[in-house]
Amino acid sequence: MTDTFSDKEYSLRILAESGTRFIVAHRGSSGTAPENTLISLQKAIDAGASVIEVDVQLTKDNQVVLLHDPHLGRTTSGKGLISNYTYSELHSIDAGSWFDTKYSAERIPLLYEAIELLKKHKIFVNIEIKPPQPQEDFKKRVDAITDIVIQAHMSEVTLFGSFHHHSLAYLKKIYHNLYTSAINVPGDKRLPSEIAKEINCDAFVCSLKELNHRRDDDAFAHKLMMGVYSINSEKDFKKIMKYNACALVSNFPSKLSDWLSNSQKQ
Ligand code: G3P
Ligand code: MG
Repeated sequence: MTDTFSDKEYSLRILAESGTRFIVAHRGSSGTAPENTLISLQKAIDAGASVIEVDVQLTKDNQVVLLHDPHLGRTTSGKGLISNYTYSELHSIDAGSWFDTKYSAERIPLLYEAIELLKKHKIFVNIEIKPPQPQEDFKKRVDAITDIVIQAHMSEVTLFGSFHHHSLAYLKKIYHNLYTSAINVPGDKRLPSEIAKEINCDAFVCSLKELNHRRDDDAFAHKLMMGVYSINSEKDFKKIMKYNACALVSNFPSKLSDWLSNSQKQ
């Protein structure tokens, strides 16, 4: 496990300026525990992740919860759209058994619970704002999510990411001091700096498949923090080490921690 950040170091600005590579646990330690659950976050903390990425969705009563898909079916015992359920109706839904029955006690966490856990351990948060549903007002979604982070006093340690760049542009316009990260939309050939110019984001994230020196050099030259998902094998790790991108997103933060430590010994 890495040492906890000091109060001064617990700032995204300081992390970005350090230029060191760090681990972003993708949906928590989602390779070893059910994604976006509290056990998955705890495992990522134990593995030494610096940042934990979570995906969020809104319930019918506008509660912000951790869930990747708009539907409950893939990762929980529930069915249908999350937006058709109030938060209290989710209580009996099992968010762990689909991964392993030993996790049957896991529930869909509130974003608030998740970030309080991360704050306690001085872990940075990467909140992925999923695209709005048809007819949904994306601004309302952004406001609900940002309110929770602001009220928890975690603005300085939270990066808001999205494939939905309209959400990020709105977020930055309203909340200038919050940090945003554009996730590259598959097929978008623009450079990170071109996207940043349009939506005023602070960081850029792409998939391993989309990673190339053109994007990496451009992000580096424009001082944009760059992340790549997902580094899940040693082969992926060897590839990423040839680039400047410093935020290494992985479903296996513990393995990534070992690969990073070994590379530092060489
Ligand atoms: O951080 C990037 C990554 O989380 C985006 O894709 O589908 O895993 O949320 P997805
Ligand atoms: Mg995500």
